[in-house]
Amino acid sequence: MPGGSLIERYAVHLPVSQRTPRLTLGEGATPLVRAAALERETGIPEVWLKVEGQNPTGSFKDRGMVVAVAKAVEAGARVVLCASTGNTAASAAAYAARAGLACTVVLPAGQVAEGKLAQAIAHGARIVAVRGPFDAALSVVRDLASAGEATLVNSVNPHRIEGQKTAAFEICETLGDAPDALFIPVGNAGNITAYWRGFVEAARSGMARQRPRMYGYQAAGAAPLVGGAPVPQPETFATAIRIGNPASWSGAIAARDESGGAIDAVTDAEIRDAYAFAARCEGIFCEPASAASIAGLRKRARGGGLRDVRRVVCVLTGNGMKDPESARSLAGPIPEVDATIDAVRRALA
Ligand code: F0G
Repeated sequence: MPGGSLIERYAVHLPVSQRTPRLTLGEGATPLVRAAALERETGIPEVWLKVEGQNPTGSFKDRGMVVAVAKAVEAGARVVLCASTGNTAASAAAYAARAGLACTVVLPAGQVAEGKLAQAIAHGARIVAVRGPFDAALSVVRDLASAGEATLVNSVNPHRIEGQKTAAFEICETLGDAPDALFIPVGNAGNITAYWRGFVEAARSGMARQRPRMYGYQAAGAAPLVGGAPVPQPETFATAIRIGNPASWSGAIAARDESGGAIDAVTDAEIRDAYAFAARCEGIFCEPASAASIAGLRKRARGGGLRDVRRVVCVLTGNGMKDPESARSLAGPIPEVDATIDAVRRALA
């Protein structure tokens, strides 16, 4: 089995042919790590973390982006285009650079973590910030794409969902079956849609015996799927999922209902606490939005809703290093002292 290329590894499950370029940056095959501290806290026998921050650009977006950009190249595109809270932009910019395409990204002004912006800049994307939330940026790029200006690589591009479903395959391969429940953050809702498709196909093709209950978590200030209506001014510290009108709305609802799961909200305080817990008690530094899955697991376990569950997976969608400001906010100022043993001891006391 070729190791580095997601397209090669899962070609039979993807919309690719011999003519599709074998684009790769080494995406996928991310670690599934056992979470002992969460097992102790929740009483669930097996809790696993799918560490998607280990992808080449530090988020799960790379799985879908490699397929979307390869298909764009195959179709003769010259420019790819996306709206983004940051990770899609970083991934699109990297794969476009790799493939020799130009990349344009439209961002919600002032709401993108520094590391993600740095990635898009470093990879040479053309960047515009618009006033308004992600939803406004997505609406603009959809119009630009339908005017024929570029190939849209947001998750409304079906190749993105196809690539992202491979994470569900990997979980089934590693565990020998699907888990009883999957916990996942939800923003634009492409990823929960992709995971559900992956689990359905895994069960159909004999990769798994069962399908998991799907538990999606939105931030309380940006929870349109929980409230049942778009949120015009979404607000949350987890900027990656600060989205008020998810494009894959119906995909998320189908995943919830067909799997017998739920979509619920967690507060910013719960997200922040789960973010610090993952880093300090499990040794895994994810970004704030990713911790919504852990916050969701803790909330549901506390509420007694997981008593029949033996094995769960939480998806950690992005790497904590993308968002240094959020990490910095977990501690006060760092003492600066003279370079003597006494001064350092005093500062540590
Ligand atoms: N976690 C992270 C770290 C994300 O960046 C996103 C989405 C999600 C979760 C939610 O996934 O949208 O498929 O429901 N980020 C998009 C972006 C919106 O532009 O990078 P989703």
